[in-house]
Amino acid sequence: MRMPLIAGNWKMNGDVAGVEKFADEFEISQDIIEKRQMAICPPLTLMSAWRAAAESKPHIKLGAQNAHWKSSGAYTGEVSPGMLKEAGCWCCIVGHSERRQYFGENDADVNKKMNALLDAGLVPIVCVGETLEEREAGKMEQVITTQVSGSVLASADRGDLSVIVVAYEPVWAIGTGKTATSDQAQEVCGLIRKLLSDKLGAASADAIRILYGGSVKPDNMSELMSKPDIDGGLVGGASLKASDFMGIVGYKE
Ligand code: 13P
Repeated sequence: MRMPLIAGNWKMNGDVAGVEKFADEFEISQDIIEKRQMAICPPLTLMSAWRAAAESKPHIKLGAQNAHWKSSGAYTGEVSPGMLKEAGCWCCIVGHSERRQYFGENDADVNKKMNALLDAGLVPIVCVGETLEEREAGKMEQVITTQVSGSVLASADRGDLSVIVVAYEPVWAIGTGKTATSDQAQEVCGLIRKLLSDKLGAASADAIRILYGGSVKPDNMSELMSKPDIDGGLVGGASLKASDFMGIVGYKE
């Protein structure tokens, strides 16, 4: 039984006042806390403010949006998984399409980052997803297969991949208000589970959580979560407002 995970990706948004407001307003029932995991991934500069503001809410785990694969060294502007761990992080997003698109990250980079996060004891949330152009050219399956193979399954020999999380985020649904239908999302999340199962075996694939991301809102979360291979959400815009994020985390079964 996979526990649902709802992670908020604040991207390059927010400030200290916003963190305090969010933490103040975020209230969720004990029942939800017991059956769903939740995380917020703010910009690095807001992490200590987050930890102070959300001290009384340890059920909201802290996450990062990126990490380097080395543990230390002359990599100006980068942060290592060990540093994130020390800053209180539980998880870290890697391979987000915005990093692939604007910062030239490829599957091999993402795989190195995933390995480094696992080595540091963090939960990697590995993102994959096709562009509209790729979908319309009938290449969705090929793109997802290549990304999952290169980003995740290149580490099949590690033997500890059950803890990772894979996020399917169709690029055309990010920040566009255009959510994939629950059937479209299920089709790809099912494909990802099959790819994982073929290489890692059914037991590992059944343990790995697969999230959907792309215009997730309080009013579409229940429908997405009704699908067998969707185990949660990676939420951008709607995670910046406590009331919206509460609505998503508290979706009706
Ligand atoms: P939106 O929820 O704003 O579409 O963003 C999705 C996303 O990129 C989360 O990582």
